[in-house]
Amino acid sequence: MPVTDLPAPFRLDGLRALITGASRGIGQAIAATFAEAGAELALSARTTQALKPTSDLLNGHNPKRVLIGADLADRGAAEQTVNEAAAALGGLDIIVHNAGTLPQDDDGNPILAPLHKTRQRDFEHVVSVNLNATAALARAAHPHLERSDNASLVIMSSAAAVSGCPGMDAYAATKAAQLALTRSLAVGWARTGIRVNALCPGWVATDMTAAVKNVSAISDWLMAHVPLGRWATPQECAYAALYLASPASSFMTGHAMALDGGLTISEGGLAGIPKPPSPFVS
Ligand SMILES: NC(=O)c1ccc[n+]([C@@H]2O[C@H](COP(=O)([O-])OP(=O)(O)OC[C@H]3O[C@@H](n4cnc5c(N)ncnc54)[C@H](OP(=O)(O)O)[C@@H]3O)[C@@H](O)[C@H]2O)c1
Repeated sequence: MPVTDLPAPFRLDGLRALITGASRGIGQAIAATFAEAGAELALSARTTQALKPTSDLLNGHNPKRVLIGADLADRGAAEQTVNEAAAALGGLDIIVHNAGTLPQDDDGNPILAPLHKTRQRDFEHVVSVNLNATAALARAAHPHLERSDNASLVIMSSAAAVSGCPGMDAYAATKAAQLALTRSLAVGWARTGIRVNALCPGWVATDMTAAVKNVSAISDWLMAHVPLGRWATPQECAYAALYLASPASSFMTGHAMALDGGLTISEGGLAGIPKPPSPFVS
């Protein structure tokens, strides 16, 4: 069923949503899906230029959209993003905080390496984008969400928050901290009507995972551990985000929604899927 034909509780008509990390991957799919569902949008990434392809994709859906460029590693950037979004849209009802990062080398390629082979400054950069910006964004959003009748904060965490992930230590640690923050905010803000939930995707095919997806020995080995046996698409994440953002999930708060093909079920390996030898052990 097209998003445009969804029953009313799943639609976002007239609701004002800020989506961070909307330039590509999961965030771009969320932006397109929310536009189809009728939301007014503020989209952010490090530069407004990076958001142009997403903005073009939305042509024909909703006329109201604002593009915000801000590096969330910078102090004050999260507050600036929220304030610009709220000023442009006349308030905020929904925030999907989706921007996130792995440690990166000077060319912007992800560094996948065990903690003892990484630099503390790379760890701290991941903490600043994935965790500190989440807290700053939530704090700045509170006065706006408090005034909404459909206030929903969706935090893009990860299956790595639950299972850990060797080679992605900083990432997994910050994603786990996002879950604790989700639960704390959900309870703390519940009586103001603001819902806070997290989405925990497993392996999704995007730029972030291209380095492992494009090496078939690694990709096959990773998928052998996913009971559904395949990579998720950004669109599948967008449908879950739509549910969490919309009135359809009005009694759900403090939840960490797994969207991982069964990856984090502790005995998922008992599905009997044959495992190729690990490409990480020689
Ligand atoms: N892909 C997966 O398998 C997977 C699994 C679980 C969870 N997730 C989470 O889902 C979210 C989106 O992931 P993705 O796979 O779509 O990643 P992606 O393709 O790498 O896109 C990341 C997005 O975050 C933005 N971003 C990164 N660093 C930023 C910064 N310092 N300031 C502002 N924006 C920044 C990027 O904007 P620019 O264009 O400016 O770089 C981009 O829009 C992340 O939080 C990620 O941790 C992904």
